[in-house]
Amino acid sequence: MDGVTVIDHPLVQHKLTIMRDKETSTASFRRLLREISTLLCYEVTRNLDLTTKQIETPLATIDSPTLEGKKLVFASILRAGNGLLEGMLDLVPAARVAHIGLYRDHDTLQPVEYYFKAPENLADRLIIVVDPMLATANSAIAAIDKLKERGARNIRFLCLLAAPEGLERFCSSHPDVPVFTAAIDNQLNEKGYIVPGLGDAGDRMYGTK
Ligand code: PRP
Ligand code: URA
Repeated sequence: MDGVTVIDHPLVQHKLTIMRDKETSTASFRRLLREISTLLCYEVTRNLDLTTKQIETPLATIDSPTLEGKKLVFASILRAGNGLLEGMLDLVPAARVAHIGLYRDHDTLQPVEYYFKAPENLADRLIIVVDPMLATANSAIAAIDKLKERGARNIRFLCLLAAPEGLERFCSSHPDVPVFTAAIDNQLNEKGYIVPGLGDAGDRMYGTK
């Protein structure tokens, strides 16, 4: 599918298998999500623009590569997005952070917004939106609608698992936003869960069920 990258790195796939296993504990699930997010972060930032700056090493003066442009923004869709956020910040500690509070109504599967806080100047920054699950895509589409209302123009979406139905909806709603995912699963079930999936990411991260 155009605009969709599947991150098939062996370490990502290995960790994802352990996360899918229903016997994996909350503590392990959280640790694995943090570990996997550093690997995903590496891939989603692979083609960032570089410039050079002059530095002095102990032996010479050189023009050395450095990231170009304003600081990145990582936008976490609460709650489960925070599981990816932590590992991303381990790799890019200077990134700015946006929090987008959304939960999915269990009956309608429509997102309900309860919080939004983002840095200024979204128009000048690359924004990487993170949420482990892209199911119907209603939450991701709403989050990106909101960021665009605030001026965001350069956005990428990073998740762990995507359903084909959700991917299709997402790509037709926001064709300008590339998607990075560790896997595309088979389908959604009648309750809007990804199958085979890993269950409810937020509940598994925080032990709330
Ligand atoms: C989960 C997940 C996504 C959303 C995906 O969050 O983290 O945000 O569902 O589903 P969708 O693509 O059908 O919108 P949830 O609403 O369960 O909230 P939580 O993170 O607070 O548990
Ligand atoms: N949200 C989740 O946490 N898991 C799913 O499978 C679908 C939506």
